[in-house]
Amino acid sequence: MTDAAAPTSRTAYADAVTTAVQAAAAYYADGSSPLGDDEYDALVRAIEAYESANPDQLLPDSPTGKVAGGAVTGDVPHSVPMLSLDNVFSAEELAAWAEGLERRLGHPVGGWCVEPKLDGLAVAARYRAGRLQQLLTRGDGLAGEDISHAADAVLGLPAELTEPVDLELRGEVLLTHRQFEHANQVRTAHGGLAFAHPRSGAAGTLRAKDRPYRIELTFFAYSAVGLDDLGHAALLERLADLGANTAASTPARPVRCETLAQVQQRVAEIADLRASLEFGIDGVVVKADSAADQRQAGSGSRAPRWAVARKLAAQHKVTRLLAVEWNVGRTGIIAPRAVLEPVVIDGVTVSYATLHNPADITRRGLLIGDQVFVYRAGDVIPRVEAPLVAERTGAETPIAFPERCPRCGDAIDTTEQRWRCVRGRGCRAVASIRYAVGRDQLDIEGLGGTRAVQLVEGGLVSDVADLFTLTRDQLLALERMGAVSTDNLLAAIETARNAPLHRVFCALGVRGTGRTMSRRIAAHFGSMAAIRAADEQALAAVDGIGTEKAKLVVAELAELAPVLDKLIAQQVGTAVTGPAVPAAGSGSVGAGGPAGPLVGEAVVVTGAMTGALAELSRTEVNELVERAGGKASSSVSKRTTLVVAGEKAGSKRAKAEELGVRIVSPEDFAALVADYLG
Ligand code: IVH
Repeated sequence: MTDAAAPTSRTAYADAVTTAVQAAAAYYADGSSPLGDDEYDALVRAIEAYESANPDQLLPDSPTGKVAGGAVTGDVPHSVPMLSLDNVFSAEELAAWAEGLERRLGHPVGGWCVEPKLDGLAVAARYRAGRLQQLLTRGDGLAGEDISHAADAVLGLPAELTEPVDLELRGEVLLTHRQFEHANQVRTAHGGLAFAHPRSGAAGTLRAKDRPYRIELTFFAYSAVGLDDLGHAALLERLADLGANTAASTPARPVRCETLAQVQQRVAEIADLRASLEFGIDGVVVKADSAADQRQAGSGSRAPRWAVARKLAAQHKVTRLLAVEWNVGRTGIIAPRAVLEPVVIDGVTVSYATLHNPADITRRGLLIGDQVFVYRAGDVIPRVEAPLVAERTGAETPIAFPERCPRCGDAIDTTEQRWRCVRGRGCRAVASIRYAVGRDQLDIEGLGGTRAVQLVEGGLVSDVADLFTLTRDQLLALERMGAVSTDNLLAAIETARNAPLHRVFCALGVRGTGRTMSRRIAAHFGSMAAIRAADEQALAAVDGIGTEKAKLVVAELAELAPVLDKLIAQQVGTAVTGPAVPAAGSGSVGAGGPAGPLVGEAVVVTGAMTGALAELSRTEVNELVERAGGKASSSVSKRTTLVVAGEKAGSKRAKAEELGVRIVSPEDFAALVADYLG
């Protein structure tokens, strides 16, 4: 959290109130507040501190004690006020809040419920005899806006409940990450500006009428008017039974806890899951579970006393776009990257962010010097979403697009959305070779640094296959290359000639394939010649390759044909390696078909390996999985059947637990595949 010092004078206090009121108004209008959530919260706390020291100076506009900072009003009165939540920012503050509540009640709380704080917009959905009648925004908490026109596009908000009850559902409407991506594609395709972040996207979508396209949203129910006697956890179950979507359908599902220690534990778990969730959360909500406790605690004007939000750091911030860099990738793609005024997002300093491609920059209307929204969801690379057009000063300048390849100076192919140097991967011969000789590919030591440049610039090597025809004399003639280094390098190249097929294939850096896919392709086809001959249909038969990817891989193979031919001629990747078991994996046509203890298992390896696996790299453990008949993958999903969790296994283990996936230790796993440990 950013700290703002409490105002020290009456004028500083008045300034702070004005800033907060303007920020709240912009935020609730279209999500475009120049203050991040953290800054806003800190500012309001500073205002509160001043007001409690100087109660006689309280300004009527002050955002403290008001729902939505007093920013919004609507015209349909709410049946029961739609309240906000008080915030705490640490485990200690949460404990102090819980103790305060128990003191007020005069007895321990009869259980807690801990659930995600969904980062969207609160709505009230009125049902009569089980049919949806009206959908309202929160507005100022007392009256909201009628947004019934948007109800059809909200998934999880049924037009009809499973029972003909009179009820008002309350909950949050948001755009999931996928819905957000889709919304921005559709909007920019229609000539609109991209949404800055999912919340403003949800706000804009709910309000909009008569759009020529449809954007779907998602509803999560977390409360109701008309079921007042149920405890909170029981209420959520009832809402799900009635057909409403609740967070119970997600890994961050609400959990009833008996003790504060359990509450803290679940808060930490939900915070850890944040990066892997399909939707944004900005905190964790802790509620007294029992209806009797809730009634006894009651509510203040702004928030209930029986619930609190443990806020998590914001994942989007506003900062300045300083410059755009153009980098040429291994395959010749020229990718723009935003250079930002460094900003701390969720504890990480962000100085760069991806910009997808030139057309995307144009669509978003970005200028150098713009204030921009930067979004960082979990471990995803930060992205620049949109400029704050209202904040422009006139000093902003257009982004210059390169006219020649910034690496080799040759022409740029701009026919596709992603620009590419006309030399393709030839432009990046050095980078391609460095990649090919990396530990997980051909593992040739001594070619990482300037040697690769020497070889390429000396005309000795233009692709990876050329390494295998280098002679001792050629190498000795290079500057600073002695006999010992030459012999070591030649020996490493000879070892690489016998590398398993999947490593040789991986070394080619075919777009759309990484280490896992290379293993599957190698196991499926069995030889470089068979891979070279594969058409789209043959490739699409490989597990995990759809028709789109098959097309891409075939195009890549056609481009690489001369390199493949040289490799085949040089007998690189033809050695029979590994234990004498079929290189199985589902879909394999390796000799004998699938076999091994892991046939049918989708395996994810996470954390530090110990015991017999301690010395293996992650790639080697994944190879072991595939040798034993399993399918290795890097992320836990519903399809995962087994997780090997070593020390410090973090969110992947948590997700596996949530999904009920079998988890084993490295030692147990080693025992399971003992016959395959080479
Ligand atoms: S309970 C009387 N539960 O956060 C109960 N609110 O910052 C008040 N929110 O206005 C709300 N997830 O829009 C509750 N699981 C959750 C929530 C949640 C998100 C929103 C809601 C509320 C705001 C307060």
